[in-house]
Amino acid sequence: MLEEQLIKDQLGRPMRDLRLSVIDRCNFRCTYCMPSEEVGPDFPWMSKSDQLSFDEMLCLVRQFARLGVEKIRLTGGEPLLRTQLPELIKGLRSIEGIKDIAMTTNGILLSRFAADLKKAGLDRVTISLDALDEIIFRQMTGGFESTGKVMEGIEAAQSVGFSSVKINTVVRRDLNMGEVLPILERFRNSGVTVRFIEYMDVGNVNHWERDHVVSSAELIDHISNRWKIEPVAKDYPGEVADRYRYADGAGEIGFVSSISQPFCRPCNRSRLSADGKLYTCLFATEGTDFRTLVRSGASDDEIHDALCSVWSGRSDQYSQLRWGGNTKQESKHKIEMFYIGG
Ligand code: GTP
Ligand code: 5AD
Ligand code: SF4
Ligand code: SF4
Repeated sequence: MLEEQLIKDQLGRPMRDLRLSVIDRCNFRCTYCMPSEEVGPDFPWMSKSDQLSFDEMLCLVRQFARLGVEKIRLTGGEPLLRTQLPELIKGLRSIEGIKDIAMTTNGILLSRFAADLKKAGLDRVTISLDALDEIIFRQMTGGFESTGKVMEGIEAAQSVGFSSVKINTVVRRDLNMGEVLPILERFRNSGVTVRFIEYMDVGNVNHWERDHVVSSAELIDHISNRWKIEPVAKDYPGEVADRYRYADGAGEIGFVSSISQPFCRPCNRSRLSADGKLYTCLFATEGTDFRTLVRSGASDDEIHDALCSVWSGRSDQYSQLRWGGNTKQESKHKIEMFYIGG
């Protein structure tokens, strides 16, 4: 769809990207996302009936596609905990206008499902991996599972032939700064792009502290002491990561700098929670319920109009404004990352 035909928000930004959370649960308890001290056995997870069915998701995604969405990223919690996920992917694949389907996963179940996901039409996969060292890995993920299983998942993703396999590494100064070079060493020349993500003040339960953030500029310095790297132009407008490549041709590295260099200006991302609420920013405090609408038997045009109305009223630019005086949202209850998938 041509740019001029698209519905724009208050800052002139079209909607291009939908991040679709399929479940709020996760089999990890990452310190930066859902630490186990905060998210314990009594946590009020969504019930099955709270979750959108695949048919309800597809019905909504068709209308997102009409608005100009071309890219879908499946997220969670951990998306592979949702049963029959390949069935959803098949359905998404058949929607006109959807050109790219990706998924972010912690990788634990990936070796089991990689082939089915690829067959169903998943194009790309991003796997979270914060450490190679087993002890540090367990500190980051809340004591769960092992690096070995994640590595098996990464290898399975490569062998089934996804068009891209990336790794997301959130760096916390107090935990895994020493893992940055070993992770890069392991994935140089492998075709897998590692992206370092600045630890963000998203949600409320991670007790974020500025001192734990390592800026991309500092990481680039740190990495440059070991390998020569050089910047590369962005792949597409609005790309979240800044790209670098090894001068010796060993591949690329990405840096996501939401804290030190916010990227709200071109942000074209919308987020739908597994219970059908639409969020127009990762740091939103409120979403708009689409589940009631879809369950009430609303027509396609009614859903389309409701989406247009939310998007055209959007003015979010949280990261850009976060430390800028009266727009500070710290006292409000921000939505958790695992609820809208990052
Ligand atoms: P590509 O389509 O491969 O470019 O993926 P992506 O970079 O859009 O998606 P991914 O989920 O891998 O993003 C990496 C990380 O960047 C996420 O896990 C978040 O931590 C962060 N991130 C993604 N989108 C946003 C955003 O809109 N705002 C902020 N502040 N952070 C974001
Ligand atoms: N800061 C930065 N990234 C985060 N993620 C989750 N919580 C945070 C946070 N506080 C990202 C990680 C993970 C993805 C699912 O969400 O990149 O890979
Ligand atoms: Fe689970 Fe991903 Fe959150 Fe870690 S970051 S707890 S893997 S949803
Ligand atoms: Fe988009 Fe909100 Fe992230 Fe800014 S903070 S890039 S508006 S999701």
